[in-house]
Amino acid sequence: MADGRLAGRVAVITGGASGIGKATAELFAKEGAKVVIGDLATSAGAKVAEKMGAVFFPTDVSKSEDVDALVKTATDKYGRLDVMFNNAGIGIGSPLLGTTAEDYYRTIRIDLDGVYWGLQAAGKVMVAAGRGAIVNTASVAGLIGSTGLSAYNAAKHGVVGLTRNAALEFAPFGVRVNCICPGVIETPLVMDNFAVVEGARKMLDAMHPLGRMGQPQEVAKAVLFLASDDASFVTGHALAVDGGMMAGLGAGNAFNQ
Ligand SMILES: NC(=O)c1ccc[n+]([C@@H]2O[C@H](COP(=O)([O-])OP(=O)(O)OC[C@H]3O[C@@H](n4cnc5c(N)ncnc54)[C@H](O)[C@@H]3O)[C@@H](O)[C@H]2O)c1
Repeated sequence: MADGRLAGRVAVITGGASGIGKATAELFAKEGAKVVIGDLATSAGAKVAEKMGAVFFPTDVSKSEDVDALVKTATDKYGRLDVMFNNAGIGIGSPLLGTTAEDYYRTIRIDLDGVYWGLQAAGKVMVAAGRGAIVNTASVAGLIGSTGLSAYNAAKHGVVGLTRNAALEFAPFGVRVNCICPGVIETPLVMDNFAVVEGARKMLDAMHPLGRMGQPQEVAKAVLFLASDDASFVTGHALAVDGGMMAGLGAGNAFNQ
């Protein structure tokens, strides 16, 4: 059996073709896990999976039947499921008065419903087995307001709430549920949106007291902690991985001068 903090464990990761999900899949594989990646991006996902010896299953997390089939792929192949990382997501700018119904529902279906279906699909297997750890990707936008991101904000607040609810419902069965709340992380989701904005990098860096954006690998380490036995007494927690953003006024505070 491979060494590592996830040796012998089976982990399903949604949104594993890119960014935070990809970095987490790489770290999990390095830590000994058998990884199954589900993503809408089929060719990128298949390539990422092949490189690390993981399994890829084409998945649209907004469809419960896809998420069920993804989890079944893992249990059919490996006979167990130890870790579920409900991470797939999109970010669409959505000021409250300027959001189309289409953008609103698309955001909710992927960013919130996708986590719901992941909790159900993995929860059924884990509750029956009497063990397991689920990590959801929320955001700092799930803890505080964020101008221009109303649909995303609603979805991510929902993810934090769902995390707590699932933690309570699954705790009697030995299944832990937590979420991570990243600040701005340098991934395609962010960089593709902001590539056209002049001075974007400087602005995004300055939003964090630590003075820079985070890297997907830094988030992956927090996910590994929550997914592993190192977090055996941690459940229902929303862990900010945000360079100090949630600590309070700091970056950009006029009283700082
Ligand atoms: N990058 C950030 O600053 C940041 C901050 C806070 C939270 N997050 C969250 O982290 C998660 C990962 O984002 P990222 O920054 O790594 O973005 P990313 O765009 O690099 O990766 C997201 C992945 O999700 C996949 N995906 C999108 N819709 C899907 C669907 N319907 N079904 C299955 N897969 C789908 C994409 O194909 C992609 O591979 C998201 O939930 C995002 O909201 C990101």
